Amino acid sequence: MNLAKKITFRACVATCGLLPLIAVAQNKPKLTLNLKQPIAKVSPRLYGLMTEEINYSYDGGIYGELIRNRSFKDNHEKPDHWTIVKAANDSSSISLDADHPVNSALPVSLKLKALGSDVIAGIANDGFWGIPVKPSTTYRGSFYAFTENQEKATINLSIESKDGKKVYARSVVSGLGKSWQKFEYTFSTPADAVPTADTRLVLRPQSPGNYYFSLVSLFPPTFNSRPNGNRQDIMQLLSDMRPSFLRLPGGNYLEGGLFSTRFDWKKTLGPIDHRPGHMGTWGYRSSDGLGLLEYLEWCEDLHMEPLLAVFAGYALNGDYLEEGPLLKPFVDDALEEIEYVIGDTTTKWGKKRAQDGHPQPFKLHYVEVGNEDGFDKSKSYNGRFNQFADGIKAKYPNLQVIATMGGKDWLGTRYQFDAKKADVVDEHYYRNAFDMESDADHYDKYDRNGPKVFVGEWATREGSPTPNFNSALGDAAWMTGMERNSDIVVMSCSAPLFVNVNPGGMQWESDLIGYNTLNSYGSPSYYAQQLFNIYKGDEIIGIEGSNIPTQIQKLNHKDSLASVKPKNYPGLFYVATRNSKTGTIFLKLVNCLPSVQNIDLELSGIGNVKAVAKVIALKAEKPEDTNTITDPRKIVPQNSTFKGVKKSFSYPLSAYSITVLQIETR
Ligand code: AHR
Repeated sequence: MNLAKKITFRACVATCGLLPLIAVAQNKPKLTLNLKQPIAKVSPRLYGLMTEEINYSYDGGIYGELIRNRSFKDNHEKPDHWTIVKAANDSSSISLDADHPVNSALPVSLKLKALGSDVIAGIANDGFWGIPVKPSTTYRGSFYAFTENQEKATINLSIESKDGKKVYARSVVSGLGKSWQKFEYTFSTPADAVPTADTRLVLRPQSPGNYYFSLVSLFPPTFNSRPNGNRQDIMQLLSDMRPSFLRLPGGNYLEGGLFSTRFDWKKTLGPIDHRPGHMGTWGYRSSDGLGLLEYLEWCEDLHMEPLLAVFAGYALNGDYLEEGPLLKPFVDDALEEIEYVIGDTTTKWGKKRAQDGHPQPFKLHYVEVGNEDGFDKSKSYNGRFNQFADGIKAKYPNLQVIATMGGKDWLGTRYQFDAKKADVVDEHYYRNAFDMESDADHYDKYDRNGPKVFVGEWATREGSPTPNFNSALGDAAWMTGMERNSDIVVMSCSAPLFVNVNPGGMQWESDLIGYNTLNSYGSPSYYAQQLFNIYKGDEIIGIEGSNIPTQIQKLNHKDSLASVKPKNYPGLFYVATRNSKTGTIFLKLVNCLPSVQNIDLELSGIGNVKAVAKVIALKAEKPEDTNTITDPRKIVPQNSTFKGVKKSFSYPLSAYSITVLQIETR
């Protein structure tokens, strides 16, 4: 039958100049699952996480530190985020001081000239959009200080409201002398404390004088109670996704704007007071409190493997080093970094890791050389990659080396790259829902003899700061394609992972998880990805689809001006996997259409099937619906059961939904 005859069109009234048209196939869609013979194995590392310092992902994000600009290095001219707290008419002052370094990593301090008689002036930090006050909570902090004037001075500390009228917790340290000392303190909030971020940390000397402060730090309880650890709620959200790996440390953050601002892993090790920090690539400094070991411990806490990306001699400003002797120190640096991760304690860098508190080597299978080297206009990646791959393979033959070029994405094909030394190629896709859905069969067409693919960054980018349900539909459609082809798509991770939703927190829109100072939430895309990862088997089941309903491309203003002809593409997506041990089938169905789809399902090639299936569904009333920091659970997976499973049965698939049918066959 000719397509034009087979399809009826329903036109919806357009808003915002868009012209959405939905085309629906007249016959019932049918999916036949061929359960006799799986087509391939599902990659055990199919779904992971990607991370970098962007959108206040670490400082002001997952890293537990509550004090912003704790080392006074954010601005050379003034102590950003620090203010003086003093009575009216008091001429006390604060200023940056470079004459009394604590050490080379802490060259600057904050000088407080505290005057006053009844009320002595103090210093206040406004945190990352406030300091989170929660009931019955113990906070642990430290700071360096000395005073010019007296021995045994005392400092009172408090977490208080921004206007100073309400004090939520107090602490005190004494014994400040005339040279730098490190002091520790704790705060405990009462059980009836009402959660608030309208707060500041204040340090107030008990007597007038000149005081100097450096590295003022404060941590809430952290995940697994790690010192210098991570925020509990965000770690829990990640843990609930059950990711298999963490791609670290970037992204652009790996490369740096300049060679000097790359992720220089050696400078991120050891006690935090020996970490100089560096300018990140997204417009703000990084404390490097979350350094290489913390990344690895983050992996350990969530039972993920690190996927280590190493700096490959190219920075974002276009500076690069050709293959050859000048690049060798960077290859050696990468080998040392790998040794830090997996070397035993008889190796130089394994020993250093043990000194840093982790004698046990970490597991590592994949090392990525660089990031998005298709942007390197010098086209030097062929030589650079080969030199790194040769060096890595010579010392660590079992490691799989990933190239950032050689894939079929825009960057991978930007110039000729010889990928023969690459075990895996990294492809990146940032798109709208139409692009994701209309290209969901992307990997069906890949050469089975070509390199394995790591989809190292991908996302449907609709919705801000976090993606909306239309993005989740785009993501889910795209994941059906990756999962069905996970014999070649061995790993994938969407990006960016995090966004601090406070004003000024975002540099990149549509990020998987949002948070402010007190709370965090998963976007609809977060739940779609969680659902895809949790509900999957280890073997891929072939599905034959017929009468698949279609949708018609919504044209935007630009398309309309360019007289683009709207494209017809599927509105229903699917993939099935099976657990080879239990026989459980996980059938994922994605309905991007505004109407219920009654789908005929045939389970071909099995003996028994249980009538009752578990159903896990993520739905929305309209594609624009979303979760927000104030309405964080509007769209979350709902569990139910379906009682009519047979070898042939019909299933009513909800409009705008992402559904897993968990069917038992034994
Ligand atoms: O995910 C945001 C950025 O997108 C990454 O840093 C970079 O690799 C890509 O261009």
